[in-house]
Amino acid sequence: MLEASHLSHAFDYPLFNDISFSLSPKESMAIVGVSGSGKSTLLHILASMLVPQSGKVFWKGVDMYAQKSAALLAMRRLEIGIIFQQHYLFKGFKAYENLEVAALLAHQSIDEALLERLGIANVMGQKVTELSGGQQQRVSIARVLTKRPQIIFADEPTGNLDEETANEVMQILHDYLQSNNAMLVMVTHDKHLAQKCNRYYALHQQQLILL
Ligand SMILES: Nc1ncnc2c1ncn2[C@@H]1O[C@H](COP(=O)(O)OP(=O)(O)OP(=O)(O)O)[C@@H](O)[C@H]1O
Ligand SMILES: [Mg+2]
Repeated sequence: MLEASHLSHAFDYPLFNDISFSLSPKESMAIVGVSGSGKSTLLHILASMLVPQSGKVFWKGVDMYAQKSAALLAMRRLEIGIIFQQHYLFKGFKAYENLEVAALLAHQSIDEALLERLGIANVMGQKVTELSGGQQQRVSIARVLTKRPQIIFADEPTGNLDEETANEVMQILHDYLQSNNAMLVMVTHDKHLAQKCNRYYALHQQQLILL
């Protein structure tokens, strides 16, 4: 359902060269690699945010970047969930209001049980700026899941969390995949969490190597 075909990209130096893989519903893949190896760039390309210098991304059989921009935007709004390395929550808003915006845009409702499970139900009335880094991270995960995306791209989604909370957040993501027939592409520095994905790759010397 997601297919990366011969992707290559360079900025000041070549990041990756001729990368191909595919991912099916209910599957998850993790990408590890040293800082600056191009993991976030690859995620941006897969997530409809950056046109690759060469190669194609197919989503449900459609060449993502060959679509009209309105179709690309609709796909991004309704089908793709992105958990960024920086959170990009609406800072002046309360945590709950951030979820309300996501629910409204995607015509979905807020899952109160999810907020309980993420351990943030009791802070939803607070301003985003008043929350700890780990709480903000979990609000941003709740916001993405509120959209009910078919595919989730997550850039170090547990970077600010202690081990126990990180494990629970990963379990929530994996449960989401199973119950929603969704997919996950995750960048992480945590090998233990990477091993819990169906496939575990390293971005190394411009190649995606299956570990
Ligand atoms: N928009 C851009 N313009 C120019 N260079 C960029 C841009 N985005 C990323 N780069 C460069 O590409 C390289 C790879 O960046 P990227 O963010 O993909 O790495 P990463 O593997 O995610 O690293 P980290 O683990 O630190 O998050 C870096 O040298 C970065 O400076
Ligand atoms: Mg990165």
